[in-house]
Amino acid sequence: MKLEIIILAAGQGTRMRSSLPKVLHPIAGRPMLSHVIDTARELQPVGLHVVVGHGAEAVQQAIAGDDIHWVHQQQQFGTGHAVMQALPAVSADSCIVVMYGDVPLIEAATLSALAQAAVNGPAVLTAKIADPTGYGRVLRDATGKLSAVVEHKDASEEQRAVDEINTGVMAGPAKDFNAYLPRVGNDNSQGEYYLPDVLAMSVADGRDVASCVVESEIEVLGINDRLQQQMVEREYQRRQAQALLQAGVAIADASRIDIRGELVCGNDVHIDVNAVFEGRVELGNGVHVGPNCVIKDSRIADGVEIHAFSSVDGATVGTGCSVGPYARLRPGTELGEGARIGNFVETKKARIGSGSKANHLAYIGDCEMGAQVNIGAGTITCNYDGVNKHKTTIGNDVFVGSNSTLVAPLEIADQGFVAAGSTVTKRVGDKELAVSRARQRNVQGWRRPQKDED
Ligand code: UD1
Ligand code: MG
Repeated sequence: MKLEIIILAAGQGTRMRSSLPKVLHPIAGRPMLSHVIDTARELQPVGLHVVVGHGAEAVQQAIAGDDIHWVHQQQQFGTGHAVMQALPAVSADSCIVVMYGDVPLIEAATLSALAQAAVNGPAVLTAKIADPTGYGRVLRDATGKLSAVVEHKDASEEQRAVDEINTGVMAGPAKDFNAYLPRVGNDNSQGEYYLPDVLAMSVADGRDVASCVVESEIEVLGINDRLQQQMVEREYQRRQAQALLQAGVAIADASRIDIRGELVCGNDVHIDVNAVFEGRVELGNGVHVGPNCVIKDSRIADGVEIHAFSSVDGATVGTGCSVGPYARLRPGTELGEGARIGNFVETKKARIGSGSKANHLAYIGDCEMGAQVNIGAGTITCNYDGVNKHKTTIGNDVFVGSNSTLVAPLEIADQGFVAAGSTVTKRVGDKELAVSRARQRNVQGWRRPQKDED
């Protein structure tokens, strides 16, 4: 049977207390709805319908995909009403799986098992949980057959004692939803059209309602507030860390690493505590990442040492480089083999040749630098004149003394030498020495100021 998926994502998420629509709040750096959509795609549905309402425009803008059919639910009259809005676009001979946009840890295998169970009629994914407060309870007859789902608010004391809950995930033939949903009423404590009411309707027609019980509670945890968001985030991160450890990456503390994107590691990679990886990051063989580093969208080649408290963003770091502690590599930084960027050095749009060093306290921006260059402490490439950015070109084997100000546009040719404390505004030729600072004058017999007598 063809499969179509309907994802409900129109709710407001009041308890997040946020101007961002709930389904756009991130898990591992991506909107929770993106995770749900990715899982849905694993089932290769012929139709992928996402029902949006609150913040619909923002949601549609943030989530990419030509395969998504957006359905607008102007007012949120309940889960049954939400599914109804999508039905006209669903083919009558499809099997439907209904998911929630705020349940991001749901797994594809769980969904396909439910879809299998739902070929002859509506089926529901349930869970047994310690504290079922707030959830719809699954009611069963004496023989254990499912008879209905009753919402917490509509349930009697006896029904509330039931610990099997409706996870919200349902499946069934489209023709059954077409038949039952228009008959679902809203005569209940919330005045809403409840999707699970179709289960009782199916039972009333003398049919058995299939159910699958999910083992892990966290897999079906819906995010309603920041506490639940954080719980899901931690679980997601725990799984990623576990997968990396199993793949041979040495992680100092699996509970102190966050990967908000994709991290690809070679062999013998060591990651110390409190590392944050964002976007796509590649770490080559033997890379060591020190404590408290943030690395984003970067490629780090074999044998690189990234020392504590470094921030690396949009950089390509060559084999055997050393970065930090306290280094900041900004987008467009390319370090050649064995280059060294030390403490309190910031680089931006800078190509730094192999073996070149800026070991302390420097700003290197909009710069093309050759090999074996030494940049002294306190060197600044003055790339910005307040209006435009200009480039500094430095050849091979150049020595820039400490506290030099290189005013771009500027070129320093091979083996050029800049004396410490110089402000360089003119081209420095091959092997030339540039000195531009006041001459030193020593005053003999000079007396220090004395304290005034009262
Ligand atoms: C729902 C179920 C309940 C189940 C629980 C699991 C119903 C009536 N109740 O309750 O049995 O135990 O989920 O978490 O189905 N939504 C829309 N449009 C609407 C209403 C909701 O898109 O008009 C979306 C929400 O954005 C959310 C999902 O549907 O993603 C669930 O809605 P919510 O209001 O959270 O339902 P619950 O009361 O939690
Ligand atoms: Mg809910």
